[in-house]
Amino acid sequence: MILVTGASGNLGTSVIENLLKQVPASEIAGLFRNPDKAKTFSEQGINVRIGDYENKALLTKAFYGIDKLLLISSSGNDALTAHKNAIDAAKEVGVKHIYYTSGALNTNVSHSQLGPLADAYLTTENYIKASGMTYTIFQNALYAETIPFFVGEKVLETGIYLPAGNSKASFATRGDMAEAIANVIASDGHDNKTYVTSALPSYSFTEIAGILSELSGKKVSYTNAEPNDYENRLRAANVDEESIWYLSLLTAIIKNNEYDIASSDLEQLLGRKPTDLKTYLKETFLA
Ligand SMILES: NC(=O)c1ccc[n+]([C@@H]2O[C@H](COP(=O)([O-])OP(=O)(O)OC[C@H]3O[C@@H](n4cnc5c(N)ncnc54)[C@H](OP(=O)(O)O)[C@@H]3O)[C@@H](O)[C@H]2O)c1
Repeated sequence: MILVTGASGNLGTSVIENLLKQVPASEIAGLFRNPDKAKTFSEQGINVRIGDYENKALLTKAFYGIDKLLLISSSGNDALTAHKNAIDAAKEVGVKHIYYTSGALNTNVSHSQLGPLADAYLTTENYIKASGMTYTIFQNALYAETIPFFVGEKVLETGIYLPAGNSKASFATRGDMAEAIANVIASDGHDNKTYVTSALPSYSFTEIAGILSELSGKKVSYTNAEPNDYENRLRAANVDEESIWYLSLLTAIIKNNEYDIASSDLEQLLGRKPTDLKTYLKETFLA
């Protein structure tokens, strides 16, 4: 039995949809913390397990009888404790293979800006490796779907104003990552491997503005903002403090080149070229 955590979320739902093309529903389970969100899944014959990353006892119960566990990273305040609870519970009940969605990182930088994300990425990966379970790690690039969050939905009118410098970051669509993850879980030959699931090439926001200009026929500018001015502008636009914090963290990481990593792993796992960023931008901002 395969269990996907975060089953009600964007990535988890998409992984399950892709698994269903290769594996009978009766061999797939989803972890939900809210049973109301599980209804459409149980109607398809998917096993529903209830659990919360913050409650290890409940996770142990939920993971009973699972052979392959996909741990989708938590975005909570204490992701490391959440992940440790899930990893410890998996080990306790004898899960044979744990899969984990980490982050695609260029570690060849000085003065890392990762802050708390270092725990969600690097510390968790090390904890999984030390657990002794067979593992597969997906170092996911930034979701292309984060771009509207960075640039705003009216980017064609407003231009891009971000403190991301001229550094490049690797992006891939969440759908492509989910398909690749499902392909790996449904097949053999991935024991103790780490894949960088990112599309090639990487792009800077100057280049993203250039693509949007080309697609729209309008000049879309990119302004490399000062971090304080950027935060003040978001505050003046009534953006909530949590989003301001997260956007500032991610743009600082991008500016420090930590999301700039090249790999053809995603293409290999998909058996086709991943969706290119121009196509994603066209479908998102010009449809
Ligand atoms: N690579 C990137 O660009 C990027 C960007 C953003 C996030 N991420 C990471 O990737 C993960 C998956 O992305 P996504 O788009 O699928 O996120 P999402 O749509 O927000 O889904 C998160 C899932 O995690 C579940 N969850 C949250 N807290 C939990 C807890 N304490 N116990 C059990 N389940 C919990 C949520 O359940 P509920 O439905 O009950 O809330 C939901 O199913 C995120 O959690 C985050 O760590 C990556």
